[in-house]
Amino acid sequence: MKVSIIGSGYVGSVSAACFADLGHEVICIDIDEEKVKQINAGIAPIWEEGLDELMEKYTQKTLIATSDYDYAVQNSDASFICVGTPSGDDGSIDLSIVKAASASLGKAIAKKDSYHVVVVKSTVVPETTEKVVLPIVEEYSGKKAGKDFGIAMNPEFLREGKAVYDFMHPDKIVVGAIDERSGFVVSELYRKLDCEITHTNPRTAEMIKYVNNSFLATKISFANEIGNICKQLDIDTYEVMDAVGTDFRIERQFLNCGAGFGGSCFPKDVKAIIGKANMIGYAPQLLESVVDVNDRQPLKMIELLQEKIGDLKNKRIAVLGLAFKNDTDDIRESRSIPVIAELLRLDADITAYDPMAEESMKKLFPAVAYCKTAAQALQEADGCLIMTEWGEFRELDKEFNSMANRVVIDGRHLIKPERLSVEIDYEGICW
Ligand code: UDX
Repeated sequence: MKVSIIGSGYVGSVSAACFADLGHEVICIDIDEEKVKQINAGIAPIWEEGLDELMEKYTQKTLIATSDYDYAVQNSDASFICVGTPSGDDGSIDLSIVKAASASLGKAIAKKDSYHVVVVKSTVVPETTEKVVLPIVEEYSGKKAGKDFGIAMNPEFLREGKAVYDFMHPDKIVVGAIDERSGFVVSELYRKLDCEITHTNPRTAEMIKYVNNSFLATKISFANEIGNICKQLDIDTYEVMDAVGTDFRIERQFLNCGAGFGGSCFPKDVKAIIGKANMIGYAPQLLESVVDVNDRQPLKMIELLQEKIGDLKNKRIAVLGLAFKNDTDDIRESRSIPVIAELLRLDADITAYDPMAEESMKKLFPAVAYCKTAAQALQEADGCLIMTEWGEFRELDKEFNSMANRVVIDGRHLIKPERLSVEIDYEGICW
């Protein structure tokens, strides 16, 4: 089949490359000419494991990029909207980019004689596809949805860093179409994948995405709340969760307590569904608490540090880990951001190390001394905060030699103090 993908960010470029790998002809549409050039040169616009290889394999064969909507719509059966949906100032979803893409699509569909399906893949709150995208495409195309063109919502469930793998090995594919014809076109695109398709309406598809993410976020905040209680009672939360997680109705994953969740999805999506609920007159207390626990958690790292070493003014604090999780350079909503901001407010001297995310964090906090290794960051430090679950932090040993008898607050359950060559003053955030 022939498919066009609007937006070459993380979801768009992964979907484009993976659809090409499934044997489809793909046209990427992006208003950024630089990105268009980059893709046409076979270079992936973002880093994702396996993406470079796919881009190189299919570019200029079955995958091309353009900024011309008319060309892309004329030469494809369906267009996927994969643009960003940032948070507005009040945490609610900002749909301006989705609206602009819908208008451009509408104008292009106006010039097409045959049926075309508009598919929303961007994460949008329930009702957006039917009440925002559909009317805009109708207005700009002068055509009728369900008759002249189709509409569907097809959410993604891709983890950053594992997005290509997740696309090709889905545990669910959700297609929320306004009619059978649109639903059929979208499901045909996934035919080669070994996964049953859930057919539903657009608003249910939109809700499935939010419920999936907010449930996982809830699990993490629940684990953090329990962890905070366990710590007071001198109980190892990880031991508790290992046992509780054996119940197949609960499952062990996403019950790791620590400094909280970050990233481009969980914080934004929980806030967006809270915003939507408020709009319809419902105050979702549980979800509000999920956000509150997550906001408090990183500051607990600082409180623990203060309990150990008192006033942090002019104290040298090493922050290990800046990315929101391991194996990415992404710092969006990283828990190290509020931690560094608070340390700066308290006039601490900060050294920091991250295997990948230094450059991004430098732009946000130029006053921090960034180091090339963990050992360097730990030199002469009075205390250390471990913020990201990088594999290499589990292996740290001699790097701590300079930290004998000094404080290490572990926000990710990575350090086994009894295995280190020197004795450190170790404290887990909630164990
Ligand atoms: C997430 C979802 O997993 C994915 O399905 C969705 O499409 C996008 O959002 P991602 O943001 O890449 O993916 O990150 P994920 O690996 O899920 O981790 C999110 C955050 O939760 C990280 O900051 C991580 O440190 C934290 N986390 C995760 C915990 O604190 N405890 C856990 O037990 C698991």
